Amino acid sequence: MPVITFANTKGGAGKTTMALVVAGELARRGHKVALLDADPQQWVSRWMTRTAELPSLSIVSDITADNVEQTIKDLGKQADYILLDLPGGLTPLLAKGLGLSSHVFVPVQGCALDAAGGAQVLDILKQLSEVSGIKIAHSVALTRVNSIITTRALQAVKAMLARQHVHVLDTPLVERAAFRDMFDAGTMLSGMKPEAVSNLDRARDNARALAEEILSLVPLKLARPKAAAPRKAVTKRAA
Ligand SMILES: Nc1ncnc2c1ncn2[C@@H]1O[C@H](COP(=O)(O)OP(=O)(O)OP(=O)(O)O)[C@@H](O)[C@H]1O
Ligand SMILES: [Mg+2]
Repeated sequence: MPVITFANTKGGAGKTTMALVVAGELARRGHKVALLDADPQQWVSRWMTRTAELPSLSIVSDITADNVEQTIKDLGKQADYILLDLPGGLTPLLAKGLGLSSHVFVPVQGCALDAAGGAQVLDILKQLSEVSGIKIAHSVALTRVNSIITTRALQAVKAMLARQHVHVLDTPLVERAAFRDMFDAGTMLSGMKPEAVSNLDRARDNARALAEEILSLVPLKLARPKAAAPRKAVTKRAA
């Protein structure tokens, strides 16, 4: 079961929102999804209480640096996809979570790379690769993009990051009320009512396109990297 991680050391970069959107869409398609809530504030566990329409989604609370690896192992046989929503901050949990990932997505708003936050995650991934030989696939995922931003402007951002050898998803997550309102609704996009939120259909289209692109990068059969021994060293270095 692939482990898909959302990481940016900057708080408020859009990690949890993207994790919820992707988890909801994968579960809607019938995949068995475990969403690991590693945020000490436990926003997802506390607020996502009306997800009964998605029986294949489970939210796993209280994930810490001490239990994340074992939890992923335990879920291995039950879940098709494990999604790990990391909190902000440069922590041992971040280093551990990255090391356990099949693919790391780094949500950044606009072209600012959420400045230092996204770059810090990319730096750790680079170090993992160069120092420990652990290569973890990763992509920047633009988020909170203005819906009227031109394809051309996005292409320019992608080209800029490509020059730095950073892969960027083609599909950004647009700034939409529906994404913001998931917490209030206590449910994913599929459980929201079109009369209660504007442009829900567009938000759902966006979620579908994003999930499709992620699925193409992280197909179901992909195992997480075999890196048990070097992973120890990584955790130490980043701690
Ligand atoms: N695509 C979007 N459209 C509208 N609002 C968004 C979008 N993405 C994120 N937001 C809003 O931005 C704020 C921060 O997003 P979010 O909680 O997902 O960030 P985070 O990286 O998980 O933060 P933290 O580091 O605190 O865990 C929230 O109020 C959320 O509703
Ligand atoms: Mg969060």
